[in-house]
Amino acid sequence: MPRDLLVSQSAPIRLLNKTSHILDAVCTWLEATTLSHTMKTIEWTIPAVQTVHILAVATVVTPVLMIDLRLLGIGARELAIGSIANRFFPYVWWPLPVLLATGIALIAAEPSRTLKNPIFLLKMGLLIAAAGVTLGCQIPLRRDAEFWDRNAARRRTVRLMAIASLSLWIAIIFAGRWIAYVQGS
Ligand code: HEM
Repeated sequence: MPRDLLVSQSAPIRLLNKTSHILDAVCTWLEATTLSHTMKTIEWTIPAVQTVHILAVATVVTPVLMIDLRLLGIGARELAIGSIANRFFPYVWWPLPVLLATGIALIAAEPSRTLKNPIFLLKMGLLIAAAGVTLGCQIPLRRDAEFWDRNAARRRTVRLMAIASLSLWIAIIFAGRWIAYVQGS
């Protein structure tokens, strides 16, 4: 096989190996932390942290549902999109640091089971996409509370964003639950 072909093909493989080595190093470092030791030795810590994680999930998903159902014209049609957004968007963002903190504690309990788990990596990708769609809907409303009501094209766009948002958050919940059932590499 020509040499240059060998080198170009091995580039993605080299990147994968490098990423896997970095992940191994992070897992080894996390395993040695006090947090990991506490999560593994004190019995009630994992279920307690999982419970807080699930409560934070409920706290994020409820306002997402309120906003997206209004954007789809299903719920609270008597209320303007701008007022629904102002009321519920803050409740989408503040539980995220709680999810991150509890998520990191759950990762520390079994780093290699989570960090090298394709479902966990998928979940993090979905979370970035969901945050992007949520911001994409929220930012124009900060400048103009009736931004999404101005014309038919914007109404269509925001309905598509609401469908994307609902699908992404539901997919994140499925991925969160499936982490435990899929083996990492
Ligand atoms: C912000 C970053 C987040 C991190 C780092 C994170 C991390 C994790 C980890 C490590 C687990 C445990 C998996 C296991 O060992 O079984 C988990 C479970 C879960 N996560 Fe997250 N998560 C995050 C955000 C979210 C969000 C935004 C949602 C949903 C809106 C979510 C929903 C779930 C669910 C439903 C479970 C399963 C809980 C259970 O049944 O015990 N997570 N998460």
